[in-house]
Amino acid sequence: MRVHVADHPLIAHKLTYLRDRRTDTPTFRRLADELVTLLAYEATRDVRVAPFDIETPVGPTTGIHLANPKPLVVPILRAGLGMLDGMMRMLPTAEVGFLGLVRDEVTLEASTYANRLPERLDGRQVYVLDPMLATGGTLAMAVRYLVDRGADDITAITLLSAPEGIERLQAELRDVVAPVSVVTGAIDERLDEHGYIVPGLGDAGDRLYGVV
Ligand code: URA
Repeated sequence: MRVHVADHPLIAHKLTYLRDRRTDTPTFRRLADELVTLLAYEATRDVRVAPFDIETPVGPTTGIHLANPKPLVVPILRAGLGMLDGMMRMLPTAEVGFLGLVRDEVTLEASTYANRLPERLDGRQVYVLDPMLATGGTLAMAVRYLVDRGADDITAITLLSAPEGIERLQAELRDVVAPVSVVTGAIDERLDEHGYIVPGLGDAGDRLYGVV
């Protein structure tokens, strides 16, 4: 599994305001949106393209455009939705699937409660959106789900990650043959006893959408 930390000063700047408890929900949403466009730039470095013939006003040339089948973007409900618009701005022709995974607050294990994905994903590049890679249980389950449907290249984009989560992902996905990458804004210190990333930013879903 490839892990890429996008340690750009603009990303670190925006992450600082995102982490700050004084940042209100509208600003938090805007920052998450801006951050994902910056992370998407790194995450799509290997997006598949095909040659495309065009004519400029001066003459013919061959450029590229996104290859078929188009990439699939999968936000993990609910917090991953806060990253969807930013990602789609970068990949407007991608398709979108939804996966609802919930974490048991006691066992910290993830289970599926919703899924709206194509039955088969053979030959598809998939971009999974989840702001927090904490224990790694949710992402490991999501990646396994996508691989079982035939996805052959998966990139998870997270705003923050915990070392424990990256370790678990690496261990749980050891047998996955398809390339799996994680592109993240930062790897924080650790998880606390409740599975929150430290220093982190708190509960990403609550900060994006309020407490429900
Ligand atoms: N999910 C969150 O929203 N925040 C964390 O710190 C960990 C998991």
